[in-house]
Amino acid sequence: MGRLVPATEMLQKALKGGYAVGQFNINNLEWTKAILTEAQELNSAVILGVSEGAGKYMCGFKTVAAMVEGMMEELNITVPVALHLDHGTYEGCLKCIEAGFSSIMFDGSHFPIDENIEKTKELVKLAHEHGMSIEAEVGAIGGEEDGVVGKGECADPDECKRIADLGVDFLAAGIGNIHGVYPDNWQGLSFDTLAAIKEKIGPDLPLVLHGGTGIPEDMIKKAISLGVSKINVNTECQIAFTKATRAYIEAGKDHEKKGFDPRKVLKPGTEAIMETVKTKCEMFGSIGSAAK
Ligand code: 13P
Repeated sequence: MGRLVPATEMLQKALKGGYAVGQFNINNLEWTKAILTEAQELNSAVILGVSEGAGKYMCGFKTVAAMVEGMMEELNITVPVALHLDHGTYEGCLKCIEAGFSSIMFDGSHFPIDENIEKTKELVKLAHEHGMSIEAEVGAIGGEEDGVVGKGECADPDECKRIADLGVDFLAAGIGNIHGVYPDNWQGLSFDTLAAIKEKIGPDLPLVLHGGTGIPEDMIKKAISLGVSKINVNTECQIAFTKATRAYIEAGKDHEKKGFDPRKVLKPGTEAIMETVKTKCEMFGSIGSAAK
């Protein structure tokens, strides 16, 4: 039986192996089942991301941890799986440590850097005492995440170095990436910023690319070659799920025999999430990573 693991080892392997592990955000049981089943099918390590809003929606972090652990046992999931708090507040991090998550992200990017450092430092100590991995953030990611709106700024490499030196296990640094669908006039990722950050933090700390939805493959590949080892995807699964569900309803399938059964209504959307996870894992190069 697989058990939740911190994300440190899988991301170190990815960094050395020249690929990235996907973080796919979960919203409910179908989402979780789709991502775990597909990761197992692809023999790929995977990170389940839970935002504070999604955690609340799913009746709290304890419910989420119990659901994921139960599902891993019942579905015989043996690939490495990390259950990770996405863009956590200080209080949210404490709750996830208690609830049995295996990884947390503290997003102190909206605080002045000294305050971000102070809080990150405390949480690094706590997370490591509990055998968990921890991600920190420098430079806000653009777009909206649970009501927090950022502009897609680029992180200051010196500030990244200060946070990296606190012993975080992986670091999210803004390089012009945005949550949600990219606008037509998006400037693209700033590889100069990414290279400058990598230069400062050294070769051993994996970087995290948020806003993975809609980033073209060539940019993804280049980001991986410059030290990105974890890529977060959320919106793309949501769009795929909703599109497939809409097609089911619009085709009138809910009016066919027992077509209104929620297990039938939610099936096309669940399969669409699995397809999205597969496409992304192919692009990130993580297929077969559980065996590597
Ligand atoms: P997208 O919703 O743009 O895929 O971003 C996800 C993310 O970065 C979660 O932290």
